[in-house]
Amino acid sequence: MQDFIPYGRQYIDDDDIAEVSKVLRSDFLTCGPYIEKFENALCDITGADHAVACNSGTAALHLAMLALGVTEGDKVIVPTVTFLASANAARYCGAKIVFADVDAKSGLLTPDTLHEAYECAGGEVKALVVVHLCGQLADMKAIKALCDEKNIRVIEDACHALGGKGVGKCEYSDMAAFSFHPVKTIAMGEGGAVTTNNPAYAEKMKMLRTHGVERGDHWKYTMNDLGYNYRVPDLSCALGLSQLKKLDMFVERRRRIAKAYDAFFKGIDWAEPVLAFSEDEAYHLYPILIDFEKIGKTREEFMDELRAKNIGTQVHYIPVHAQPYYGGRLEDFPNAAEYYKKVLSLPLYYGLSDEQQNYVMKVLSDY
Ligand SMILES: Cc1ncc(COP(=O)(O)O)c(C=O)c1O
Repeated sequence: MQDFIPYGRQYIDDDDIAEVSKVLRSDFLTCGPYIEKFENALCDITGADHAVACNSGTAALHLAMLALGVTEGDKVIVPTVTFLASANAARYCGAKIVFADVDAKSGLLTPDTLHEAYECAGGEVKALVVVHLCGQLADMKAIKALCDEKNIRVIEDACHALGGKGVGKCEYSDMAAFSFHPVKTIAMGEGGAVTTNNPAYAEKMKMLRTHGVERGDHWKYTMNDLGYNYRVPDLSCALGLSQLKKLDMFVERRRRIAKAYDAFFKGIDWAEPVLAFSEDEAYHLYPILIDFEKIGKTREEFMDELRAKNIGTQVHYIPVHAQPYYGGRLEDFPNAAEYYKKVLSLPLYYGLSDEQQNYVMKVLSDY
């Protein structure tokens, strides 16, 4: 019997364990030298001038919002097909979320759906969160042009996209936020970071991640602003640094797996891949759009059947606007509703072997 194949998981090798062990034997479990080392490595990889590491992707998005000065009553546009944190980070600052619809095939925000949301916002919009869903690259150039015209600041939610071409370089954005949760491309347990080319944003985020405090002589410190404990431990940064060394390998393997699924789905008439494969993109998830009527099953039944065959799948995502907290109806955004009705993510992670992927495809070919 096939062992359970999850939809995503981390890959940890002996080098990772050795690097974390070094920190365990050192003087600093947190607030030590690995934080800056990790930040420098992220700058090298992304091409950004500054990186600010923190303890989750959610904290990264919140710090980015704070750096922009997002405050009570500001409007922030967020595409509705994303993880809750993309919107919640702006809510922490008291902003009003203006949800945007997405392309029904890719689930991405487009210049058109952005324009539509801007019109709905009715007036000044402080910021936009662009989500590179599953690792697909949103059309940043066109989106940025529109935002410049309307004086909207841009934060890339790049939590799914580390390793993609230009991701984190902030050529068309103010900042980019990353998550290093274990199912993401690199794992730190919990961890996150923001990259930017704006030194003032970087400085502000570094201060806010540790209580808004500036260190002085001897015991002295000054609290200039209301900050948080969003610090990431050295333990996690040592793991992150070691994982970053394998980033190219991780990204390449994920692309090869995505390509093999793509070839398989060419012969399937009840589902189609979401991703339009590109060697420029680094894939976090492999979602497909399923015609459940055609296979005569509900998504729940289909997932349960796959689960019984030891294949894990997941739905990314329930459109955020339809959560009770945000109070919308699913049908408010027809493209997002269409995408959500059909979407299901298949196993995709570095350690997924050819045999395991072939097993998944063999099981799927029986439908
Ligand atoms: C698109 C997106 N943004 C933000 C986050 C938040 O990251 P974290 O879980 O590290 O707080 C996630 C995590 O799943 C995500 O998928």
